[in-house]
Amino acid sequence: MKFIFARMYQLIRSIFFWFDAEKVHYFAMNALRFFCSIGFIKKILAANFQAKNKKLAFESWGLEFKNRVGLAAGFDKNAKYLRELEVLGFGFVEIGTVTPKPQDGNDQPRLFRLPKDKAIINRMGFNNDGVKVVAERLKKWKEKHEVQSTKYENSPLTTHHSRLIIGGNIGKNKVTPNEDAWKDYEICFNELFDYVDYFVVNVSSPNTPGLRELQEKDSLRKILSHLQTLRTERLKLKIDSVVEKPILLKIAPDLTQSQLDDVIDLAKEIQLDGLVASNTTISREGLITDAAIVTAIGAGGLSGLPVKQRSTEIVQYITQKTNGEIPVIASGGIFSAADANEKLQAGAVLVQVWTGFIYEGPAIAKKICNGIAVQ
Ligand SMILES: Cc1cc2nc3c(=O)[nH]c(=O)nc-3n(C[C@H](O)[C@H](O)[C@H](O)COP(=O)(O)O)c2cc1C
Repeated sequence: MKFIFARMYQLIRSIFFWFDAEKVHYFAMNALRFFCSIGFIKKILAANFQAKNKKLAFESWGLEFKNRVGLAAGFDKNAKYLRELEVLGFGFVEIGTVTPKPQDGNDQPRLFRLPKDKAIINRMGFNNDGVKVVAERLKKWKEKHEVQSTKYENSPLTTHHSRLIIGGNIGKNKVTPNEDAWKDYEICFNELFDYVDYFVVNVSSPNTPGLRELQEKDSLRKILSHLQTLRTERLKLKIDSVVEKPILLKIAPDLTQSQLDDVIDLAKEIQLDGLVASNTTISREGLITDAAIVTAIGAGGLSGLPVKQRSTEIVQYITQKTNGEIPVIASGGIFSAADANEKLQAGAVLVQVWTGFIYEGPAIAKKICNGIAVQ
């Protein structure tokens, strides 16, 4: 049966790969949404996509993750497919990157597959519905789950009483100058505060001009400390809240050693809750895809197999340098349980997939969960 499903996805994938990558993404997710809207089909899908391994729950930051496998930011930018992603067995989904105002992003085509390298190049440019619309969607999700779920009714562990943990990945609008970036992060933080379980500050996407300059220590300190202050003020008003809303920072795999050391020093100094390592790379090193094809694709962030090693190295470096005091969510080139285990052994507490979903198919979370070695 497993073999038949694997062959089926290979066939579907080869058909999908004939069409524009972005259009296929939405077509596939909307098709899944249609199937999930039919109660008994949703149940069959959910039963099929849940991992057999039951000892997967993991607690961090006062949040209980039903498993350690999440979907990385950029897949469900607008929080439109949470039900479907929960059905597929993900333990957490990072929505976004969300910006204060809606944005169209860059001109299409802007998403390209490199099958020979098991990679993707994207220059989406933070296309999203804007934080107000996304917050409204999350509010509805939360309300629905509070009414529906009795099982987790008394659990203080998640915002939603559903066991799907939701991260809010926040960014700045393209038109906002870097010196005002902190204001954009503040707007997104405030709007999403009641509806997400954790935050990720994204200053590492290569597709918003100048954004990665914010990875410089002083800029980071300004943005992150400000959000921490806002959080303290909010939590003072809600003394009954047990959920701290951890704030994490997502970093690029292209940081130099000294930049990485700066980030680690700062994370320790301000007691940051964690890091997400890593985003896509601007490097094109080591690709086996024809150089002319890569050049014709042009600018963008490269993800998938080519970032796997660098991402693992960064995870390992951070955990060693901090004695594991700063939890790391690993992202970059995870396709299998072996890849996830490599990241966990390097010190990551959780893993996220994006490109792996495209190449391995919708059963990726289940496959990884069933083969995860670290309990
Ligand atoms: C099409 C696409 C869009 C992405 N959009 C975002 C985004 O909006 N924000 C973000 O932090 N990361 C974004 N990413 C980066 C992923 O979240 C992930 O960190 C990166 O792709 C490395 O993981 P992977 O090798 O499993 O794809 C995007 C990646 C892809 C392929």
